[in-house]
Amino acid sequence: MSNQLPWHLPEDLAHFKKLTSGQTVLMGRKTWDSLPAAFKPLPNRLNLVLTRQTDWVAPGAVTVHSLEMAKAFHEQRHPPTSKETLSSVPAIWVIGGEQIYAQTLPHAQTVEMTQIDLDVAGDAFAPTLGQEWREIHREEHISSKGVPFRFLTFNRF
Ligand SMILES: NC(=O)c1ccc[n+]([C@@H]2O[C@H](COP(=O)([O-])OP(=O)(O)OC[C@H]3O[C@@H](n4cnc5c(N)ncnc54)[C@H](OP(=O)(O)O)[C@@H]3O)[C@@H](O)[C@H]2O)c1
Repeated sequence: MSNQLPWHLPEDLAHFKKLTSGQTVLMGRKTWDSLPAAFKPLPNRLNLVLTRQTDWVAPGAVTVHSLEMAKAFHEQRHPPTSKETLSSVPAIWVIGGEQIYAQTLPHAQTVEMTQIDLDVAGDAFAPTLGQEWREIHREEHISSKGVPFRFLTFNRF
């Protein structure tokens, strides 16, 4: 089915919530559209939505028209304190979809990936990580339905 996740893994949704709560998330307009109404905006997070439509608005979302605009808005919300440098400003969590992952991966330092041992059909894909990425953390799990999955963290080297 188009514009929906082809799996339901509550454990991954809980992991996603834990990682991103209280922080800034950036998503493409189609990912925003794919979120269930009850989760729009994603609670307790600054929701930045990237679109080329100049008149696009949605309750609870901050509309941005470029990655630079997203970064500027985020930094305005999280100005560095006098003891901090710009690099200590909290990161933006890029939460998809395919188009946004492709455009932001070159700027990313860390990737949090969930691998699920399922064969599913899809029409939107996460980018393949190149040799500049190293796995630094791995947690193996089995879902309540018996499906193996794992949380992986990669850093850019
Ligand atoms: N498994 C996961 O982790 C995960 C996460 C998120 C999403 N998804 C899935 O991914 C799918 C959506 O991915 P997608 O690639 O089709 O769409 P998307 O990346 O979510 O959104 C694409 C839209 O973003 C806007 N956009 C893209 N680049 C832009 C730029 N440079 N400047 C301004 N606006 C820009 C455009 O919006 P306008 O058309 O409005 O101009 C474009 O149509 C859904 O099926 C969703 O369920 C999966």
